[in-house]
Amino acid sequence: MHILGLNAYHGDASTALFTDGRLACAMEEERFTRLKHQAGFPSLAAQKSLQFAGLSAADLDHVAVSRDPSAHLHRKVLYALSQGPKLSAVKDRLTNVSKLRDVNVTLAEAVGLQASDLRAQFHKVEHHHAHLASAFFASPFERAALLSIDGFGDFVSTMWGKGCGNKIEIDGWVEFPHSMGLLYTAITQYLGFGKYGDEFKVMGLAPYGEPEYLDQMRKLVKRKPRGHFELDLSYFIHHSDGVNMTWDAGAPTIGDVFSKKLEQEFGPRRPKGEPIGRKENNLAASLQALLEEVVLDLLRYLAEKTGQTDLCMAGGVALNCTMNGKITSETPFKRVYIQPAAYDGGTSLGAALYVRHHVLGLPRDLVMDHTYWGLEYSPEACRAALDAKHLSYRELDDELLADEAARLISEGNILGWYQGRFEWGPRALGNRSIVCDPRQASMKDHLNHRIKHREGFRPFAPSVLEERAGDWFEMGDPSPFMLMTCQVRKDKQALVPAITHVDGTARQQTVSRATNPKYWGLIHAFERRTGVPVVLNTSFNENEPVVNTPEEAVSCYLRNDMDVLVLGRYLVTKKD
Ligand SMILES: [Fe+2]
Repeated sequence: MHILGLNAYHGDASTALFTDGRLACAMEEERFTRLKHQAGFPSLAAQKSLQFAGLSAADLDHVAVSRDPSAHLHRKVLYALSQGPKLSAVKDRLTNVSKLRDVNVTLAEAVGLQASDLRAQFHKVEHHHAHLASAFFASPFERAALLSIDGFGDFVSTMWGKGCGNKIEIDGWVEFPHSMGLLYTAITQYLGFGKYGDEFKVMGLAPYGEPEYLDQMRKLVKRKPRGHFELDLSYFIHHSDGVNMTWDAGAPTIGDVFSKKLEQEFGPRRPKGEPIGRKENNLAASLQALLEEVVLDLLRYLAEKTGQTDLCMAGGVALNCTMNGKITSETPFKRVYIQPAAYDGGTSLGAALYVRHHVLGLPRDLVMDHTYWGLEYSPEACRAALDAKHLSYRELDDELLADEAARLISEGNILGWYQGRFEWGPRALGNRSIVCDPRQASMKDHLNHRIKHREGFRPFAPSVLEERAGDWFEMGDPSPFMLMTCQVRKDKQALVPAITHVDGTARQQTVSRATNPKYWGLIHAFERRTGVPVVLNTSFNENEPVVNTPEEAVSCYLRNDMDVLVLGRYLVTKKD
């Protein structure tokens, strides 16, 4: 049986393809179009997935889309009636309905067929059902409490329940216009970060400040019994003016969602380009503290309600690593699984999994313990990309390559490390990474200013050998997806200053030999040489989606300040 999951007409358009009971590939459209958070229909990802699996779209049995405009319809109608007619919102919704009705035509066009060639059954899976399925059905748990929390999808911002075997039971949800994700977006915009997906910058800023404005910020959200919450809508405009978002094609954009009252409360917003100061740091810290208060409270309720000690989470807010790092110490949950593409990109996987298990009743067989679900390129393709730029290179076996690359980074060089299949989700986790020495404090500024061309406050994360992680970080279970922040052990902080954030934390990735032997080998070689089983890992890109092809990797290497490139088995240095 072949099932294709689609996240379409939403941010981070993507596909996930199951063939004969196995996940064949899962990829985001942005890697092909080279536009961050690419929305619209994932035409290229669909084409490439089918090609990868050697299938035609005519072979598909089921297609699952992670949207259902008819979900929560009676609530939408009641809301629309209570607000009076808002033509733009109504029009937007009708456009979405018609796009989804024609999704079979669009898919067929994307792969060069007629809609009549497709025999697949089409399913619309409600957005948060898809989020919940993306976490639970990819987790190792037979039973777990489930939480999906984001901006909005299908008129809902938050949904929770329980997973048992191959079924998901919904217990509660929070509807439009109340949303912790949107609250985080509002303050992110107010702080001068206006791009779609900028929330993680504010999360990185928060540790520089103190939650001095927490009391004031609590006015923005009222906590209610049984996990529910409500925004004070006088600080927002999304409910009255509509959310000005574009999802059609290209990168999504979002207009301001906060009202003048927010500026009356906290003073004028920071204009773009103005320096970030104590006030911005403290507002970011206050926002982060408020988010943690509300979500950890909801989780305590969920633990009590479900009686579970395992938790699966998804939705954009589940990418908040600082909050995630506090779950096992501040709630009854003992183990947490967050699917690596927790944001909307992951809902293609979730929609396909929902149909496989919840709808069709097939037994579960996936535990997603790595993110290498993208395309890979042959040694010939790597060599051709190097030859095209007249670069000289050495071809080395795995062991020599790891050893030589480790030597070069221990001497202060910045390495582009390109191997195997590209990652699923927002993080580069050792197949499309820029890697350097975490012992050198200056690496952080050097990378921010000369390679990544981004704000100087942004932290960098470490990759650590899984078997050594407990010696360096105060953490419990392995953290392979870089989604949990924890403390760097006090006696180790001074040894790895480039990956230790201002508050002594890090967003570590534990690397297992079983799931990524080459990356594990590189870090192991670095440890042999330096005694430190940790490298600094950041995504292989420069204000663009993470590189996909060898050509993109070579181009990124040549146009910025990286010193060394390992492209598959080939090693290139600028000093040769
Ligand atoms: Fe979502």
